[in-house]
Amino acid sequence: MTAKRILFTGGSGKAGKHAVAYLIDQGYRVLNVDLTPLDHPKVDNLIADITDSGQMFNAMSSYAGFDELEPGTGVPTFDAVVHFAAVPRILINPDNETFRVNTIGTYNVIEAAVKLGIKKVIIASSETTYGICFSDGQTNPHSLPLEEDYDVDPMDSYGLSKVVNEKTARSFQRRSGIDIYALRIGNVIEPHEYAELFPHYFKHPEVRRRNAFCYIDARDLGQIVDLCLQKDGLGFQVFNAGNDDNGAIIPTKKLAERFFPDVPFTREMGEHEALFSNRKIRDVLGFKEQHNWRKYVSVSGE
Ligand SMILES: NC(=O)c1ccc[n+]([C@@H]2O[C@H](COP(=O)([O-])OP(=O)(O)OC[C@H]3O[C@@H](n4cnc5c(N)ncnc54)[C@H](O)[C@@H]3O)[C@@H](O)[C@H]2O)c1
Repeated sequence: MTAKRILFTGGSGKAGKHAVAYLIDQGYRVLNVDLTPLDHPKVDNLIADITDSGQMFNAMSSYAGFDELEPGTGVPTFDAVVHFAAVPRILINPDNETFRVNTIGTYNVIEAAVKLGIKKVIIASSETTYGICFSDGQTNPHSLPLEEDYDVDPMDSYGLSKVVNEKTARSFQRRSGIDIYALRIGNVIEPHEYAELFPHYFKHPEVRRRNAFCYIDARDLGQIVDLCLQKDGLGFQVFNAGNDDNGAIIPTKKLAERFFPDVPFTREMGEHEALFSNRKIRDVLGFKEQHNWRKYVSVSGE
């Protein structure tokens, strides 16, 4: 059987490069579409701008590499599009530019995929949709844990762009009937960052309040993308993409008492279970984390 062909936008970035490497290891063929190429021996690159609709239609109807010229049977259709390219937070570009690139870019990517007959699209949404991360001042969530049916209400241009993207995805899904899954990605941690960052986080847990103490190992994010590629027929879905536990030493109940004292809980939680809940990906997709932070950071007394 030939490898599934995946067009991956933003594969050169922090999260994308690990997710792409994971997919390559699972046997997928990946064409990376980005403004800068990814240096990986098995990845083909196409330099293109997601804010240009013509370039997205063109990239999605392109050969993935020279070898695809050989059979003489024309350009194959991509099996799926994974869309990670974006301005990944506020305060990189002016707010209006963040909003423009993220919303127009996502519209262009989904529209091209749908109109070219690609049957699966996975887009990167964000934990920031829950409205705590980039809020002015310290805000509380309406309830905990943060789960996918929450009424998301960010007050910043980046979080808003991701909410709009989820609506764009839902709209295209309704019209086309294809599968479009939005991953509300938690704070991405690369393998080398555990040693660099977590000791500081444990000493100063308050710095993680805005992320609701969540993290997603970049390799586990690759697994989640793979599971989404394998799972067909769910229509439009939103999934939190996070690890099982909080990125904190303090148990969940105490963490909430200290940092979110007046926030009601909608259900019982496990001792260290993440406030940014990953229950849906475990239940629906069969996610099994491979990279809990405890594998990489030792805590004295544990
Ligand atoms: N890093 C996190 O903690 C985090 C958390 C939640 C959601 N996300 C989302 O995950 C995705 C990946 O984030 P990341 O941290 O890897 O970001 P990143 O900035 O490291 O990577 C983004 C990639 O997109 C590319 N890109 C930007 N604008 C583009 C354009 N106009 N056309 C083509 N390519 C363009 C960049 O060149 C880069 O390679 C983003 O959608 C981001 O919003 C990230």
